Amino acid sequence: MTYPVDMSVKPEVSAHFDEATNTISYIVRDPASVHCAIIDSVMDIDYAAGRITYDHADALITEIEGKGLKLDWIIETHVHADHLSAAPYIQQRLGGKIGVGEKIMVVQETFGKIFNEGTEFQRDGSQFDALFRDGDTYNVGEMTCFAIYTPGHTPACMVHVMGDAAFAGDTLFMPDGGSARADFPGGDAGQLFDSIQKVLSLPDEMRLFMCHDYGPNGRAIQWETTVAAQKADNIHVGGGKTREDFIKFRTERDAQLAVPKLIIPSLQVNMRAGELPRDKDGNLMLKVPVNGI
Ligand SMILES: [Fe+2]
Repeated sequence: MTYPVDMSVKPEVSAHFDEATNTISYIVRDPASVHCAIIDSVMDIDYAAGRITYDHADALITEIEGKGLKLDWIIETHVHADHLSAAPYIQQRLGGKIGVGEKIMVVQETFGKIFNEGTEFQRDGSQFDALFRDGDTYNVGEMTCFAIYTPGHTPACMVHVMGDAAFAGDTLFMPDGGSARADFPGGDAGQLFDSIQKVLSLPDEMRLFMCHDYGPNGRAIQWETTVAAQKADNIHVGGGKTREDFIKFRTERDAQLAVPKLIIPSLQVNMRAGELPRDKDGNLMLKVPVNGI
């Protein structure tokens, strides 16, 4: 697959860090117009209390309104297991299309079963406005953007490239953070390695924006790096590490990781494009499958 890379287009990227989930949401502005996209928004949840709020999403909305921007796209790099998407809330306020990888159908099938969703839960991705395949292009104003299919962390992961900026989702963390886990249902360490190679084959100067950062070894939170820096220094895949090395390391490491705190509500909401599920009477309601995950 040859991707339509255009390093001469340099979008303005505004990062919003969510302290509760260590997620970074982005507003990406077409340099030639007032059009923009949001990558990976966050809805706030106090899971213990079953309470949803929108402070993080409101900050994105306030910035877009304050700058007089027009929102074309609300992109999910994948079905996140550690935070809830605020895509429908943002769409209601600002418009824009919600897009995700076409393999969302695989994720919906897997978790539709685990959460014992009825037939009213569609598993065809129809909750989203657009489903991307490898190499699909779309526009943010005059800027042509494209999606790269990058499975491994989940079956529906995609990296989105806008001009000289790529949004890595959970393929990579900052060089000193390495890579994301590959042990969720449908995850695969070998696939993740191959997907990371796709990202690393982008131009060296490509700006790379992470979806998460946990400030390893006490350093301050960071989210921006480059393809060149990842190739040289990434602790899991940089410096010529082999696929076999990676699979062995990733598998051993994943076996020791705790389940993400918000995986139960995140999956139920994110597989519905950010909508909360409802019970048979129409009340917003989340489930907990016992020993299901
Ligand atoms: Fe993730």
